[in-house]
Amino acid sequence: MTADPFDPELFRARGHAIVDRLADHLVAASRGPEGSPVLPWVPPAEMAKRWPATFDAPTDPLALVDAVVRGSNHLHDPRYVGHQVTSPLPTAALFELVATLLNNGSAVYEMGPVSIGMERSVLGFLAQKLGFGAGADGVLTSGGSAGNLTALLAMRQAMAGYDAWGQGSAGGPPLAILASDQTHYCVKRSAQILGLGDDGVASVPTDDAFRLRPDLLEGALAEATARGRKVIGVVGSACSTATGAIDPLDEIADFAERHGLWFHVDGAHGASLVLSTSLAPRLRGIERASSVVWDAHKMMLTPALLTAVVFREGRRSYESFAQEASYLFAGQAAADHERNWWDVGQRTLECTKRMMGFVLYATLATHGAAAIGAYVEGRVALTARFADMLTEAGDFEIATPPDANILCFRFTGGGLADSELDDAQARVRQRILERGAFYLVQTRLRGGLWLRVTLINPRTDESHLVALMDEIRRVAAA
Ligand SMILES: Cc1ncc(COP(=O)(O)O)c(C=O)c1O
Repeated sequence: MTADPFDPELFRARGHAIVDRLADHLVAASRGPEGSPVLPWVPPAEMAKRWPATFDAPTDPLALVDAVVRGSNHLHDPRYVGHQVTSPLPTAALFELVATLLNNGSAVYEMGPVSIGMERSVLGFLAQKLGFGAGADGVLTSGGSAGNLTALLAMRQAMAGYDAWGQGSAGGPPLAILASDQTHYCVKRSAQILGLGDDGVASVPTDDAFRLRPDLLEGALAEATARGRKVIGVVGSACSTATGAIDPLDEIADFAERHGLWFHVDGAHGASLVLSTSLAPRLRGIERASSVVWDAHKMMLTPALLTAVVFREGRRSYESFAQEASYLFAGQAAADHERNWWDVGQRTLECTKRMMGFVLYATLATHGAAAIGAYVEGRVALTARFADMLTEAGDFEIATPPDANILCFRFTGGGLADSELDDAQARVRQRILERGAFYLVQTRLRGGLWLRVTLINPRTDESHLVALMDEIRRVAAA
């Protein structure tokens, strides 16, 4: 170990060197086709062998960083069109560095005052963008999965009709939530964590565009009720993960209102559309939701994980978690709904929480909400354009026209029979993964296998998509 690992001058020197390397990486990544592979594919077992746990002698941290950068999935490469994780704004990554060095746990005010003040302010901003009125509030948490769990916990406590915390599931009839068959798996996982069991999510079928069919909600409610379930809420996706379909939120809100149900919107990916005046109408009805989950690390260009859970009635945010912890939250009783908002940990899964408020606030403050809205618009427009390009090409088909910036499609050229289509997509995807010229993913839709892209990198443009189509044709023919 060097003389003093806390030596500020050592930190300065290493910091400059690491930032230089990351800047070089950004240059290389933005080069696209001529640069290094998007993902230098290595099978998992081989990757684990590359990193023996030999911690006896100190390693050069710069060499380590070089190896990590080289071997990673390069989200800043415009040929990255894979899962819904953004290439973060480099300045936002620097904010993360500040946050991790200060390491203020932002669940208890005294431990992270600035970030908690910023969190309060930024939640107000997001609530206003969603169209919520006065009284809305929420929390930041570690990802969409944790966010959906947080919202569904509040739903259960508010709607069960008994004290779901105090009495547990023995307090009343088994509960259920309605959600479409395209809902992200974490909603079902949350329901299972909540003790609702396998039948806890009653699946509502979707239409040809993979959007929840509101005309089938009444039937799903009646069917769950007949099974002895008390339905407490309904989940709309805005948008869904697999195809980016936006559920008819206004109609779901009508249904929820008619039956006095909690209406939760999983806007992990698509809530950011409200930052664009032209796209916001696609989410009409979101302003009627009881709760919304919104990931900043998907379409707001922040590093992961950073998620907002916003409640139309802010007091509901105190109902997700109800443990008493006087050693942290001074002088507050668990059942007291007037608890101090500044001890955010009462309302989040995390006890020690990263400085998320600061990172999101600083990203919005330095970049501007309008610029992020324009970025979202650009990605959605490019995805619509890509759908047209694929349709016009004749040797591709799309699963459905995109509502947002996710698109599923498949290669149908090269004389492939219908029965060969699935295998062909899997083969194409695997070859592209191994060649590293692009990074795209795949999904199963109604039994068939489809290639799937999320156009989330701000530098991806039409030329990259033309090149992707050519790459697919090339590897399909090989
Ligand atoms: C609609 C939706 N909900 C929830 C999640 C889970 O979010 P996270 O990966 O931040 O936990 C995702 C992730 O892709 C998503 O698309």
